Formats: sequence, structure tokens, C-alpha cells
Amino acid sequence: MSFIKKRFSLIMIAMTLCLSACVSQPEQSVYQQLGGQEKVTEIVQNFIYEIEFNETIFDYFKETDIQRFHDKLIEHICVHTGGPCEYTGDTMEQVHTGMQITEADFNLTVDLLINAMTKANIPHRLQNRVLAIFAPMRKQMIYI
Ligand code: HEM
Repeated sequence: MSFIKKRFSLIMIAMTLCLSACVSQPEQSVYQQLGGQEKVTEIVQNFIYEIEFNETIFDYFKETDIQRFHDKLIEHICVHTGGPCEYTGDTMEQVHTGMQITEADFNLTVDLLINAMTKANIPHRLQNRVLAIFAPMRKQMIYI
């Protein structure tokens, strides 16, 4: 192989490697980083388990259809983390109006969500991204 051909081949190899490594990939959604539908379902199931074992928070859910809560919460988390779902439940105001959820109980519920994510082996940095999405919703549900 001539010197020119060798140089050309080397440049082609370098360009191919660069195309896969240098071109920046679009960042994955939080939904994808979590592990998609399977992982969101696992988190919600862990969360319901946490609620069932917390007397203070379970008190709010005494009359709740847990299967519906399970299904709508999966849709809700999916949509808000950038997943390919449609939310078919009620608005946060409609659902939580009349519950008079206190700030302390909201924070306690967040702790239960953290436990649920930890049990699903979600890394802490990713947990923080999920919390950053849901924490601002507190305005739509406390003391209403
Ligand atoms: C950012 C935080 C929260 C989110 C994203 C959220 C989301 C949801 C969703 C999607 C539903 C189902 C809606 C439907 O059935 O159409 C729901 C229901 C419910 N949520 Fe929340 N929620 C949050 C915080 C809380 C807190 C702090 C409490 C109480 C301490 C609470 C108590 C309830 C109860 C009791 C229901 C069932 C209502 C019923 O039986 O009809 N939620 N929530």
C-alpha cells in the first residue's frame, strides 16, 4: 500500500471513530435514565408499599382505590419525566383539594418516595432529578 493510501485509510478510521465518539448524543430523558416503564412501575409499587406502612400518610388513602392510584401515578410520573405516555387522571388540584395536606405530611410523602426509589436502586443523582420535577408541585396540593 502506498504512503498516500495508508494516510487516507488512517484518516478514514479516525473519522469513523470520531463520528461515534465526538458527535454529542441528545441527553436521555429522566424516564429513560430511570429505566422506562418497568422501573417506574417498580418505584410506584414500592411507594404504595411505603404508604401502606406509614400510619400518618396511609390515613389520607383509607378510602382510595389503590389500583387506580397505581395506574394514574405511573402515567403521571411517566409524562412528567419525559416518557411516551398520556396522563388520564384528574388534575393535582382536583385530586388533592379538601385533603388539607400539611407541609410536614408533604415532606413525609417525599421521604417515602425517596425510600421507594432507593429500594429500586435508583442512583442518588437521578433521585434528585426526579425530586426536582415533583417538589415544585407542592403548591398545587398543600393546604387546599
Ligand atoms: C408531588 C407530589 C404528588 C403527586 C405527583 C401526586 C400525584 C397523584 C396522582 C397522579 C394521583 C391519582 C389521580 C387520579 O386518581 O386521577 C393522586 C392521588 C392521591 N394523592 Fe397524590 N400526589 C402527590 C402528593 C400527595 C400527598 C403529599 C398526599 C398526602 C399526604 C397525597 C394523597 C393522595 C391521595 C389520598 C390520593 C387518592 C385520591 C382518591 O382516593 O381519589 N398525594 N396523587
